[in-house]
Amino acid sequence: MSVQSKIAPEGAKTTNPKVLAFVEEAKSLFKPEQVMWCDGSKAEYQHLLKTLVDGGTAMWLDPEKRPNSILVRSDPLDVARVEDQTYICSKSKDDAGPTNNWFDPAEMKVTLSKLYDGAMAGRTMYVVPYSMGPVGSPIAGIGVMVTDSAYAVANMHIMTRVGDKVWKALGNSEDFVRGMHTVGYPLSTPTTADVPWPCNKTKYISHFPETREIWSYGSGYGGNALLGKKCHALRIASVKARDEGWMAEHMLILKLTNPEGKSKFIAAAFPSACGKTNLAMLNPTIPGWKAETIGDDICWMKFGADGRLYAINPETGFFGVAPGTSDESNLNAMKTLTANCIYSNVALTDDGDVWWEQMGTTPDHTVDWMRRSWTPASGRPAAHPNARFTAPASQCPVIAKEWEDPKGVPIDAILFGGRRATVVPLVTEALNWLHGTFLGSIMASEKTAAAAGKIGDLRRDPMAMLPFCGYHMGDYFAHWVKMGEKGGAKMPKIFYVNWFRKNDAGKFMWPGYAENSRVLKWIFERCDGTAKAVDTPIGKLPAEGSLDVKGLKVAPDDLKELTHVDKEGWKAELPLIKEHFATFGAKLPKALSDELASLEKRLG
Ligand code: OXD
Ligand code: MN
Repeated sequence: MSVQSKIAPEGAKTTNPKVLAFVEEAKSLFKPEQVMWCDGSKAEYQHLLKTLVDGGTAMWLDPEKRPNSILVRSDPLDVARVEDQTYICSKSKDDAGPTNNWFDPAEMKVTLSKLYDGAMAGRTMYVVPYSMGPVGSPIAGIGVMVTDSAYAVANMHIMTRVGDKVWKALGNSEDFVRGMHTVGYPLSTPTTADVPWPCNKTKYISHFPETREIWSYGSGYGGNALLGKKCHALRIASVKARDEGWMAEHMLILKLTNPEGKSKFIAAAFPSACGKTNLAMLNPTIPGWKAETIGDDICWMKFGADGRLYAINPETGFFGVAPGTSDESNLNAMKTLTANCIYSNVALTDDGDVWWEQMGTTPDHTVDWMRRSWTPASGRPAAHPNARFTAPASQCPVIAKEWEDPKGVPIDAILFGGRRATVVPLVTEALNWLHGTFLGSIMASEKTAAAAGKIGDLRRDPMAMLPFCGYHMGDYFAHWVKMGEKGGAKMPKIFYVNWFRKNDAGKFMWPGYAENSRVLKWIFERCDGTAKAVDTPIGKLPAEGSLDVKGLKVAPDDLKELTHVDKEGWKAELPLIKEHFATFGAKLPKALSDELASLEKRLG
């Protein structure tokens, strides 16, 4: 017997000394009643659901309507990601940059160690080995998370690849992300009563990028607690990607196939609440075209042997916003949700099913997400606006056959976009990678609906990474520039899209949803060199007649406006872009200020 296996605590499934030391450290801090090493099995998943139901956190939905699915209602103080309490604890404040909350790592550990001390008293500490990406894929990455939340573990089962196979892939390597999570509600004495949704008013979602650690405290909900997602796959992974020469991005991935059977892979970054999940699963309206899903939220890309960028979806599930999801907006998501899902903070119908706003016919009565009786006259939503479904990606009827390919898929095009009522056309092709990086760096969404002809209150969200970049955003832009220099002509083409343009009457000019496939077709054909474009000061726009609008009811004036350059609008935006760029100080790559100067010159 090796020395390592002798020191392995009971139940440990690995002899990796770094893992054992990490779990021991967690155990001595949290002081749980017991430790459970997760194996990722189906039986374990069912056991977790039963634990949640028996403990009053969850209830079974009607098995005829939603087989093997549960409904969970959280504490009203714990319903969303808490960006204000999210920290990047790099050694130097300058490495976190102007867009992140920074805290000194040693001080943060002192603060959190006090909160962590005994925080799992009376509870089980689950040890969760997980892989982001197909186990053993050269693009994938491994994490080990300890948590006292059975809800978090059940979600991790759906969202990541959990199990003993991960220990095998890790071996004795030190290359794994260490995640510590507690809801911060110890059962201090044997008689302390538990509550349906334990959490703490105090919350910290702390990241230590240099040591690849995540310390999360006080929340059991979403991205605060499912550490594989935003914390690992974006904030920590973005730093790792910078260090190692790859990309971790907030992007969906889809496969688009033309009537001749030729396929292209497209990655797309949009800020939260811009319809990413809908685009990832769209059913094209153009005859003969097919779209399939690879992922709906996160994309890791590395250079392949042929010099192209290959992407994987590091996740295995969808953690989607429920309200607004319907057969009309996203039929494939609705079909994904028929069984084996976790629903959080949606409403419960009288016949044991789930409901949320805009799902379909409004029921006469439900129990809302706060367990109160609800009718349409209640004057408040029945589901929380950030109510979620956690659904296995494998259940998606349009999941692409390549979605678990360890090699990844070669990316042909990258899309950026936001919600812009004015100025930004339906689609613009970047002149080159650098110009595309510039377009990504100025990406924005309107916080409020903009008055026609006026620029709205903009939230700049570069590459949709504002809340998710684990380091200085100026350095992140420089990383994009560097990747372009490395990949040269083999880099994907970059496009800037905007489905949300409004006319003078305040009406959307473009129907959006499945009709966005028409724009995807133009993008596909631009990559193939078959669709025509015209050069404009802001990039390449569809030449007249090149966008397939056959059978589409869009007013000719609107169509013209959608594919035309609003020169004055862009000129008015230049000072805002300058202001935005100024926030990055000396770290703004010169290449991007040069792009801005060139745009200004082209606009005349
Ligand atoms: C998400 C987000 O939850 O981007 O995916 O906010
Ligand atoms: Mn997201």
